[in-house]
Amino acid sequence: MIVEKISKQDLNEAINIAKSLPEWFTPEGQKNMAIDFDNNNLIVEKDGDTVKGFLCYTTYDGKILLIWMGVKPEFMGKGIGTNLLNWLTNKAKDLGMYAIEVETLPEEVDYEPYAKTRAFYYKSGFKQIAYKKATIDGWDDQIVLEKNIK
Ligand SMILES: CC(C)(COP(=O)(O)OP(=O)(O)OC[C@H]1O[C@@H](n2cnc3c(N)ncnc32)[C@H](O)[C@@H]1OP(=O)(O)O)[C@@H](O)C(=O)NCCC(=O)NCCS
Repeated sequence: MIVEKISKQDLNEAINIAKSLPEWFTPEGQKNMAIDFDNNNLIVEKDGDTVKGFLCYTTYDGKILLIWMGVKPEFMGKGIGTNLLNWLTNKAKDLGMYAIEVETLPEEVDYEPYAKTRAFYYKSGFKQIAYKKATIDGWDDQIVLEKNIK
């Protein structure tokens, strides 16, 4: 079940899921994520009291920006990411947005965990629209992916 009005406990569970995904989220990413959770929209997928996945988003000039998402490792590959994204797609439709945008690590960076992430986004209908060179020392380049909303 997708929950929009999340409790403090759900929020902490979402942060714990992020901590359980160190191959994707660095300590700095986790710190930024906690700030983003507080200042944007956070939804979680729950089964009873168990938070299985989270998605953080905002809106910007006709688009939904997907800021962060993650599924607890033991529940990956069971459709939870798809469920969260379907909810977001319906939200985008309800709001009359034209696209969902997300940034991720490019193919050029040879790092297996994000190959899975890209496979998920491409399977879900996202297409690359831009390549962003990193502007901060030590940060990676990013690709910008977009999914059109009809
Ligand atoms: C990416 C992620 C959100 C996907 O959620 P999920 O619940 O595991 O994905 P689903 O079960 O809905 O899978 C949907 C499709 O994505 C693709 N996919 C998912 N996991 C995959 C994997 N490990 N390898 C390759 N493709 C994969 C498949 O095409 C799959 O479709 P299929 O089951 O019909 O083959 C989740 O795996 C995750 O949290 N990854 C780590 C964190 C992350 O990458 N976050 C996004 C960046 S902010």
